[in-house]
Amino acid sequence: MKKTLFEVNPWKIIEEGFEKENVKSAESIFSIGNGNMGQRANFEEFYSGTTFQGSYIGGVYYPDKTKVGWWKNGYPEYFAKVPNAPSWLGIKVVIDDVELDLNTCEKVENFQRTLDMQKGIYTRECILTLSNNVKIKLKSERFLSMANNEIGAIKYSITPLNKKCVIDLTPYLDSYVKNEDANWEEIFWDTTKVIGSKNEGFILSHTLKTEFKVATYMQNKVYIEGVLQENLPEEKITDKQLSYSYNNEIDINQTISLVKLGGYITDINHPDTDLKEYTNSLLTKIRNSSFENLYAEHINEWKKIWDNSDIVIEGDEKAQQAIRFNIFQLNQTYTGKNALLNIGPKGFTGEKYGGSTYWDTEAYCLPFYMATKTNEIALNLLKYRYYHLSKAIENAEKLGFKDGAALYPMVTMNGEECHNEWEITFEEIHRNGAIAWAIYNYERFTGDTTYVPKMGLEVLIGIARFWAQRANFSEEKQKYVILGVTGPNEYENNINNNWYTNYIAKWCLNYAAIKVNEVRAEYQDDYVRIESKTKLSTQESDLWQKIANEIFFPFSEEHQVYLQQDGFLDKELNPVDSLSSNERPLNQNWSWDRILRSPYIKQADVLQGFYFFEEHFSKEELQRHFDFYEPLTVHESSLSPCIHSILASKIGYNDKAYDLYLRTARLDLDDYNKEIEEGLHITSMAGTWLSIIEGFAGMSIKNEKLSFVPSLPKNWKSLGFKINFKERLIEVNIDNKNNCSIVNHTQSKPISILVNGEIISLK
Ligand code: BGC
Repeated sequence: MKKTLFEVNPWKIIEEGFEKENVKSAESIFSIGNGNMGQRANFEEFYSGTTFQGSYIGGVYYPDKTKVGWWKNGYPEYFAKVPNAPSWLGIKVVIDDVELDLNTCEKVENFQRTLDMQKGIYTRECILTLSNNVKIKLKSERFLSMANNEIGAIKYSITPLNKKCVIDLTPYLDSYVKNEDANWEEIFWDTTKVIGSKNEGFILSHTLKTEFKVATYMQNKVYIEGVLQENLPEEKITDKQLSYSYNNEIDINQTISLVKLGGYITDINHPDTDLKEYTNSLLTKIRNSSFENLYAEHINEWKKIWDNSDIVIEGDEKAQQAIRFNIFQLNQTYTGKNALLNIGPKGFTGEKYGGSTYWDTEAYCLPFYMATKTNEIALNLLKYRYYHLSKAIENAEKLGFKDGAALYPMVTMNGEECHNEWEITFEEIHRNGAIAWAIYNYERFTGDTTYVPKMGLEVLIGIARFWAQRANFSEEKQKYVILGVTGPNEYENNINNNWYTNYIAKWCLNYAAIKVNEVRAEYQDDYVRIESKTKLSTQESDLWQKIANEIFFPFSEEHQVYLQQDGFLDKELNPVDSLSSNERPLNQNWSWDRILRSPYIKQADVLQGFYFFEEHFSKEELQRHFDFYEPLTVHESSLSPCIHSILASKIGYNDKAYDLYLRTARLDLDDYNKEIEEGLHITSMAGTWLSIIEGFAGMSIKNEKLSFVPSLPKNWKSLGFKINFKERLIEVNIDNKNNCSIVNHTQSKPISILVNGEIISLK
């Protein structure tokens, strides 16, 4: 994005003025979604300029055959790509024989895009002069319903301003779609049928290889000055398109509006249903719906979402807008209704990262959903990994592990590994740890202890078995070591004894052993089932604890810090400040070997461990490690500033915490990483939420109690939010002197919580 165009506003994102070079970036920023489907903010009408077209459907993927230079044994056969779906968005517009195209218009004036985050609607308005000198006002409004996640709605209005003209509006469906990131330029879809009648219809298509069946539908109504036009449009059906043309003469200052409803019906949501029949019945059902009624229902759902998840910041509109943008996008991406869906790092806003699941979900996103939704929704994120356990075991077997050891994939759609760079696929194994940690985090936060005996223990056993086999005993060190890994800092590969990996492995081994004992003692029936299924023995969990007790951690006596990995001190430890700005970001300016030899850290690594296991270390230790590692950190992962902001708050580095907060919160709005065209950083948005709630409000769990130690940024007058903790809805308000007022909104469920270390009882 060339320059920042978004106005600061507490509830809206507003872009003023039309700049062709900003179109792709704005398409990302103004993306809309409803957990089931999502789309980039592409124009409805044809646009001949540079654009990145994208509509996506939750859970639908295509296995794109792996493309690598040097094939390594163990690589996955495919990368699961989220396919650009057949489009229901398009409206061809011809005015007095000239096709409307913002790229070739004589003039584009008063161009404005608005994303109203409170109501979940995206609007675009402008005044256009076409090459035939016809001047029109264009307004388009659209939303993807949160009330019924298979329905989207567009209201597209044109008003001629200087002369009466003939306006031809042709809404269409199009299944001739491609992915920009297709490895072999393959088309991912096959269309089987195009069906239309009167003013509505659908395209039946399916993804190749994975065979996800999808009906892409539309229903159209045209109004002139608010009056419904009954005359039937001209229908056109081709092998991949369906369109209806409405041709009308419109007077000066009269408005013609097309209301187009559309969306997707998939066999993911309707596995045992005939999609054709179902789509026909949906079309019948929505025939009497108006744009306004659907919109009212949609706003109502957003109101419920905001009631529980809003964060109110007084005194800092930029921060306020940013956190709402992050919360809005998280809600658009995942609504937790289906345990087969997850949160891709780009959500429904782009193709990169394939829309797949990463460790981001467990390490960054889960807390947001636990705190702002019901337990079932967060629980679905845990169930997702349970359903993938057998694939994680197969994945480990492919790499030579045995006896039920599980290695969860770095990137996945259906449980199978999709990542194909050896230093990550085979070596970035710390991801297994985050999955176990999320189980622990879920139990302590929600108080729900049912997941572990029913499902989670099997996951923990698989993970513990993996660590027990992946570590080996070093005769030289007389300790267990873990060799050949990549830590969270991907700017180091194939290193030995990454402190973070070793620490989380130790923790997993202990935690799994504790949970085995707990389930054996308290849930005998479940234990018997799990024991027979996994062939678990007492000796095995004893071995886990022995390995955990004897794991090696690289430590520097001189600096009194744990070392990121063996040999870290051999590097030239020049701080990031010593780099010139034209070398940044390093990953775009330095050769890879130079990055690997450097001390520069992409994202929290040792400090990620200090973040997860805060209670294992003193504040002095945290500060020492922060002072050692943060100056070497380039924050070139979107996941980096948030964790550092939280830790900075804990140490009392308030200015640093605030700088890093703005960097995470406005990462996309201000395009810090210069890549916003590709899509938004959805998973790091959960990190933004963490940096307010766990950073500035200082929320943590201490001895099973919710605790707050607030330290608001100097310019904030107050901070307010709600948290769902152990089935209590707790409202927190903090003023600029860091006084905290807390209310428990849940009847007959009293609770004690800690504020600055003091116990407060809430009725
Ligand atoms: C980060 C990973 C992360 C991935 C997806 C990478 O740049 O280094 O930690 O899982 O992006 O967000």
